[in-house]
Amino acid sequence: MGFKEVFGTLPEASAQAPGRVNLLGEHTDYQEGYVLPTPLPYLTRVEAGRAEGRVEAYSETLRELRARPLESPPQGDFLDYLLGVVWALREAGHPVPGARFHVRSEVPMGAGLSSSAALEVAALKALRTLFRLPLSDLEVALLAQKAEVEYVGVRCGIMDQMAASLGEAGKALFLDTRTLAHENLPLPPGVRVVVLDLGLGRRLAEAGYNERRQEAEEAARRLGVRSLRDVADLCLVESLPSPLDKRARHIVGENLRVLRGVEALRKGDPQAFGELMTQSHRSLSQDYEVSLPELDALVEAALEAGAYGAKLTGAGFGGAVVALVPEGRVEDFQRALHAGFPQLRIL
Ligand code: GLA
Repeated sequence: MGFKEVFGTLPEASAQAPGRVNLLGEHTDYQEGYVLPTPLPYLTRVEAGRAEGRVEAYSETLRELRARPLESPPQGDFLDYLLGVVWALREAGHPVPGARFHVRSEVPMGAGLSSSAALEVAALKALRTLFRLPLSDLEVALLAQKAEVEYVGVRCGIMDQMAASLGEAGKALFLDTRTLAHENLPLPPGVRVVVLDLGLGRRLAEAGYNERRQEAEEAARRLGVRSLRDVADLCLVESLPSPLDKRARHIVGENLRVLRGVEALRKGDPQAFGELMTQSHRSLSQDYEVSLPELDALVEAALEAGAYGAKLTGAGFGGAVVALVPEGRVEDFQRALHAGFPQLRIL
């Protein structure tokens, strides 16, 4: 069902935003660190129209129509994200009286590929056009994060919304989450970003994510720094008690890996970049302890099948693996992985 069939009126604006995978810089964005995500070729498209005092939305993907008044609390469904962005705009003083949306998404849900950030950013960009709001893409990302953290109630960093709002196809978004300075860097020629999804879901992700955030905050407090971004010397973390030493080692090392990864991108060196991705995964698995045995096995299989590098992407505790694969080997790579993991979805 299209917008007109659902609402009986024509849409007045539309926008789209992609899902993302993160190539390097995992669990650094809530400690003011560096990240390097890239947008996926899967989009969420939103059409929008005016409504008074309420938010209404039809999801073509879920085949669900939902509507609630503006002041409603979140209820754990997809409408929360749309109520959230309208709430965030109104909080920021933008005159949005209500809205209706039609949502069509290709971004896989529940795989750690930021389908929620794609929805928030697409909806905000559609509202920006509809109500002629003077918002930059950076402000859109910040409002999307505000909606997710303060309205929906998920304590995320800024990476996903920045990737959805400012990412460019075929490029990695090098973002300093402290200053929000950012640059889109081309991926090396002749490589393909391949996403491997075992359909593990992310059941414990939210509790585990919040626990890691607290551990990182505690490590920063004990080291006497504003955030772990300010620790440049890896030796300093050895003074911390376990497991804070391991958590801090991951974050400090991961920031260095992003900076080295940026150098590798500038040189167009996929080998060096891939090695950093694999190091990132090992650190996420051994020091940050957010991997699962299935993800570790998948990373090893991806390397054996010819990837330059591979790692889990996003928060971990499930979700997908991202691999960097030489263009000419993609078919063999896919065949080898399907043979080892028949239930694997390759994106
Ligand atoms: C989730 C969060 C991001 C980031 C990653 C881990 O995707 O939404 O802000 O913290 O986990 O790198």
